[in-house]
Amino acid sequence: MTPQQPPFGAGSNRRDFMRNGFSSLALVCTFAAQSSLKGAEITRSTAPTSAGRRFKAATPFTPFSRDLPIPPTLSPVSTRQGVDVYAMDIQEGLTEILPGFETPIYGYEGIYPGPTIRARKGRPTIVRQTNKLSFDSNVHLHGGYVPSAHDGHPMDVILPGKSFDYTYPNDQDAAYLWYHDHAHGRTAHTLYYGLVGSYLLSDDREEELGLPTDPEFDIPLTIADHAFNKDGSFRYSENVDLGFRGDTILVNGAVSPRMAVKRRLYRLRLLNASNARSYTLKLGNGRTLLQVASDGGLLEQPVLRSTVLIHPAERIELLVDFRGFRPGSEIVLQNIDGESAGTRNVLRFDVERGGGAEEFKVPRGRMRTIEKLPAPNASRRWDLSLATASGVQWRIADRGYDPERIDVRPRLGTSELWQWHNPSNRIHPMHLHGMLFRIVERSSGVIHPADRSWKDTVGVLAGETVTVQPWFVPYTGRYVFHCHALEHGDKAMMLQLEVER
Ligand code: C2O
Ligand code: CU
Ligand code: CU
Repeated sequence: MTPQQPPFGAGSNRRDFMRNGFSSLALVCTFAAQSSLKGAEITRSTAPTSAGRRFKAATPFTPFSRDLPIPPTLSPVSTRQGVDVYAMDIQEGLTEILPGFETPIYGYEGIYPGPTIRARKGRPTIVRQTNKLSFDSNVHLHGGYVPSAHDGHPMDVILPGKSFDYTYPNDQDAAYLWYHDHAHGRTAHTLYYGLVGSYLLSDDREEELGLPTDPEFDIPLTIADHAFNKDGSFRYSENVDLGFRGDTILVNGAVSPRMAVKRRLYRLRLLNASNARSYTLKLGNGRTLLQVASDGGLLEQPVLRSTVLIHPAERIELLVDFRGFRPGSEIVLQNIDGESAGTRNVLRFDVERGGGAEEFKVPRGRMRTIEKLPAPNASRRWDLSLATASGVQWRIADRGYDPERIDVRPRLGTSELWQWHNPSNRIHPMHLHGMLFRIVERSSGVIHPADRSWKDTVGVLAGETVTVQPWFVPYTGRYVFHCHALEHGDKAMMLQLEVER
């Protein structure tokens, strides 16, 4: 598939374009914004057109004009012997993101983001995935303790027309896991075009703590930057060095939406599903945010933050108590790293009247005790670098991905120190499949209290060295580790480990 093309031929036609009342002016603006991403100054007409004024005023697409969509929760198709069985089709779809336009996507069940699975610790699930696309696909459960054969390894694919039953033991603490396509070399494309969904694993502990688990107050927020063609289709252009950058932020598939909230306690589960963009999020009125969980589940203690930095593939769970706001308040969640209005406005909370009794609690004190890791058996250094000899490729330890080669063979139950050494001027969100790690050292300074719990992805900043300690449990077998800037990972920045008995 060539870049710049919509994923398949079912794009909007001219009639769609014409019937659109929302006007092409706004779309013209998005191209002006887009051009700024190529390093040039924003090419903006000096004539005071309405389009120009609109661009100046806000984002090319009026923010906060749509309600936040909430992906549906998938119901099991059956339950056998305590195992919930789900079924999904991986298929093409059309979705209305810009009013009056149809955007072609790939989607689990044809929607973007895909349906949410709410699973329970100790209760396994089987997810039957049927590939109705015309090319290979597969599904990786990111953050899950999953046997290697069910991990969605890049080489284990579901052929078109075929199905695979992914079995997930759910034998780990509550966490915000997510599922996405992982067919080798395609993830930048397939995730961008929609193959992403949330998998919320709950347990007794989070209920004891009084954390919201009711879908009305426990909200997954899938954040990703996109860009659009004139016909409303997603615009994608490959940049292997930088990774894709869009000019518009989508939350759950809507442009900078608004979310009506009651005066209640909400659990907001942020997932950065962007190809390569990191965000620094801040509440508009400077209110602090209370973080309770990260990739691997609950933190030891809640952490108050004035800003939240989230790299691709990371998850951050926040508690926001809207009882502290007057009815009618509008609170904007902003990305203070955004280079334009379209990439600054993330989401607006509109506080409604009323509230009622609160049954949830803001946890105080210790939420969890992090298990002690065994002393490391080995120490490894992984250099992250850009190779340009045969096309632009990011590499780990001067190696590109080779499915035939095993790069590390740790023993089951052991741990090691892995040093990510990043002399480049890009951020590399480094991710390990099937296992979790702790961050033990950062050359850039102290480890943020919110990063001291279990992680599966760590943003290694430009010029930084980050040492992590993976724990090689609970399964033996072959897994990958890679950069989650998708253009980096697709273009070789991935290695393989085999956990041995
Ligand atoms: Cu989201 Cu290979 O992972
Ligand atoms: Cu993963
Ligand atoms: Cu990278």
